[in-house]
Amino acid sequence: MRDTYVGSIDQGTTGTRFIAFDHAGRVVASAYEKHEQIYPEPGWVEHDPIEIWENTKAVITRGLDDAGIDADQLAALGITNQRETTVVWDRETGRPVHNALVWQDRRTTDRVEELTEAGKAEEIRAKTGLEVDAYFSATKTEWLLDNAEPLKMRSARGDDLRERAEAGELLMGTIDTWLVYNLTGNHVTDVTNAARTMLFDIHDIAWNDDLLAEFDVPAAMLPEVRPSSDEELYGHTDPDGFLGAEVPVAAALGDQQAALFGQTCFDEGDAKNTYGTGSFYLMNTGSEAVESDHGLLTTIGFQLSGEPVQYALEGSIFITGAAIEWLEDVDLINNAAQTAELARSVDSTDGVYLVPAFTGLGAPHWDGRARGTIVGMTRGTRKEHIVRATLESIAYQTRDVAEAMEADSGITTTSLRVDGGAVKNDFLCQLQADILGLDIARPEVDETTALGSAYAAGLAVGYWDTLDELRDNWEVDRAFAREMSGAVADERYGRWGEAVERSLDWAGE
Ligand code: G3P
Repeated sequence: MRDTYVGSIDQGTTGTRFIAFDHAGRVVASAYEKHEQIYPEPGWVEHDPIEIWENTKAVITRGLDDAGIDADQLAALGITNQRETTVVWDRETGRPVHNALVWQDRRTTDRVEELTEAGKAEEIRAKTGLEVDAYFSATKTEWLLDNAEPLKMRSARGDDLRERAEAGELLMGTIDTWLVYNLTGNHVTDVTNAARTMLFDIHDIAWNDDLLAEFDVPAAMLPEVRPSSDEELYGHTDPDGFLGAEVPVAAALGDQQAALFGQTCFDEGDAKNTYGTGSFYLMNTGSEAVESDHGLLTTIGFQLSGEPVQYALEGSIFITGAAIEWLEDVDLINNAAQTAELARSVDSTDGVYLVPAFTGLGAPHWDGRARGTIVGMTRGTRKEHIVRATLESIAYQTRDVAEAMEADSGITTTSLRVDGGAVKNDFLCQLQADILGLDIARPEVDETTALGSAYAAGLAVGYWDTLDELRDNWEVDRAFAREMSGAVADERYGRWGEAVERSLDWAGE
């Protein structure tokens, strides 16, 4: 009998990756494609959903071809995706009415301020677990229905997109939904992605009528919400389509939740931090949705078929890896790999702190008007200090959310599992252990996001049977323990807090 594998589509902010895993959770096939970042105006970020779908097909095909694997050797496909990014498309033609509005897009900030001023933040947080912010899909969907001009022309029902949506002619979805629709023809999403729309009640596990009314989003355009790992399957790929095989599409998870699952954080108190463009620190809080008093989000971690949802607390940090990209943009470094060497060449930042609040600050501050700041420079400040301060800002921001997490959950974390591109940097991992005072565990398979959705898909079709099998696959590549004295770490962290204060509420109206 031929070997079988589970495929994962990891559709992220900067690109799309396909990975196939074997039963031991090892990578057997992989391909990646970047897509265009579209910035029509300052603070606006869009992606072309058609380009994303074309890239998805291309990476699956290339990944399988390069590894000599046939599509019918895939026992299942799972999806993981950049969250919150919103697409509205025509059910009949499959054409989007507009580019996708990306999670980083700030065009709806005024609407968010209007909601806050109208005193609606508390009620929205109680239902959705989310801070009212332009980050989520609700105001993006509202904006698309109000503004997607080009498509109004094509409607047989006139130019009212809401009427078309009410009649079921237009569909809305996050990127998982867009891909499942293209792969299977079915309009579904999973609980973790639904939880990021700000239209979904995370306690009732249902779209919320009051929120739909607030944002004027017709219920008819919303996808059916399913478990993240679904034995009933989301659908099958078309045997006459690009893959030439009927593969079950069995799972979807937002990428940060997928990383939590891939890191096998299945139990209450298990936590992971993913270092990408931003960083997302999630802790499994079990079947209890823990409300945050410290600026964290309450979200859904995952749901397995026939089981209750597992909740998570999340600290969403908007800029971490992107701060390293900025160092490159301003020619302080040539590439990310150089940061460790430069930072190591000095003992400290010599009192310099850099707060990378380029798009405001997310958790735990939630200040859309915060802006990037460098404080503490002297005539003796060199680029090495600034590079080191940038790496330290990643570790400090993580400590900000880790402290909030401990205060909200009452759980003391002793070991943090880490993943994402930046954890290849040993210096950063050590710095994180030093500043947090926790053991940092980097796993052998660093593609934990893709692995998480593969695990969820594999569980749904019986490729894996138990969570214990998955736990057994998790192996540590390297662990980092604190070397810096706690007193020094605390003193520096205190100064960081003062630097953050200076970055808050900087942007004008
Ligand atoms: O919430 C946004 C997050 O899901 C984006 O992740 O890795 O695509 O930048 P990433």
